[in-house]
Amino acid sequence: MTALQEPRTTRHAGPETLVLSEHPVFRRFWYAVCAVDDVRTEVEPGRRGAAPLHRTVLGTDLVVWRPDPAGPVSVAHDRCAHRDAPLSMGWVADCHLVCPYHGWEWDKDGLTQRIPQFPGAPHPTKSGLTMVRSQERYGLVWVCLATDAEGGPVADIPEVVEWDDPAWRQVPEGSWDFDCTAMHLVENNIDPGHVAFVHMNSFGNPDNPELTDQNVQRTPYGLITWTDVPVEGRPGEDGATVRHTWSQVHLPFFMHLLIRYPDGLGHVMLKAITPVDDSHCTIHQVVLRTDTEADRPAADIRAFDHQVELEDKALLDRLPDEFPLAQHLNAHAKADKNSLLLRRMYTELVTGAWIPTPHPTTAVETR
Ligand code: FES
Ligand code: CO
Repeated sequence: MTALQEPRTTRHAGPETLVLSEHPVFRRFWYAVCAVDDVRTEVEPGRRGAAPLHRTVLGTDLVVWRPDPAGPVSVAHDRCAHRDAPLSMGWVADCHLVCPYHGWEWDKDGLTQRIPQFPGAPHPTKSGLTMVRSQERYGLVWVCLATDAEGGPVADIPEVVEWDDPAWRQVPEGSWDFDCTAMHLVENNIDPGHVAFVHMNSFGNPDNPELTDQNVQRTPYGLITWTDVPVEGRPGEDGATVRHTWSQVHLPFFMHLLIRYPDGLGHVMLKAITPVDDSHCTIHQVVLRTDTEADRPAADIRAFDHQVELEDKALLDRLPDEFPLAQHLNAHAKADKNSLLLRRMYTELVTGAWIPTPHPTTAVETR
């Protein structure tokens, strides 16, 4: 069999590839699970209470609910201590989460409040929920799976300086599910070479694939890469231009992309990539812009980014399930230095040689 005929095979996990579930350190970071507005508190007709949400992070099923419409969200493992029912099939009423199987009820902290069959009987020990750390930021609900015994979070969610700056309007974009690892999606987002080809129907031009300038540096939180990318217009507009981008990767999977166009327009993309399990991820995306709704409606920005994400998804969904760390597993060219540094830093993270330290996503337009 010639090299051209070799079938696509699944690589085996081990020191040469990264399989998330083999490394508990990934439990110690914050991941977005949904938009704040996705957690409903109103009761739909025919239901006894508001519907909680089911989400999966690193293979762990979670239930997300808002016990009090005026209070914060709660997140717990999606399994009842009584007979293992998925709590996300239950409902939220009178500030309690109710199990759909036998109606046990818990408060916002997961403490058992009612067992309806014999309400006067003492509650058994271990009847409470297994709670998970959660917080709401940037219009998203975030969780960190690590318990105190596991060391808790390595770092807080990165501070985004544009978020509270009135010069930047906020455009929440929603989320997209990918059938690839979270590492593959991060790598794709700092890969300047794919734009001309994967995005030829949106903003790339395969006849103009050359890169003039590409820089990457390690940082305390991960890496920053800055580059000039020739693009066929900016979202929704005609006319070729160059965009200057500064992409920060806050390891493992949070990204802050700052794009500047020659006329000064600023476009930031927050990309919160969540590892759903070893071979699936979800990206939650929020855009910040220096122009106004009259200049470019949010609906147009969303529609354009939807097309771009689907272009990446069509390709990424077909990649192997394991993420290569060892250099010899792939060929690399000059345009791959971002990817090579990213893979080296994932290697250092999983071997314990390096751990990120928190750092704000300052608009570092360094040259
Ligand atoms: Fe939840 Fe019985 S399984 S109350
Ligand atoms: Co892309």
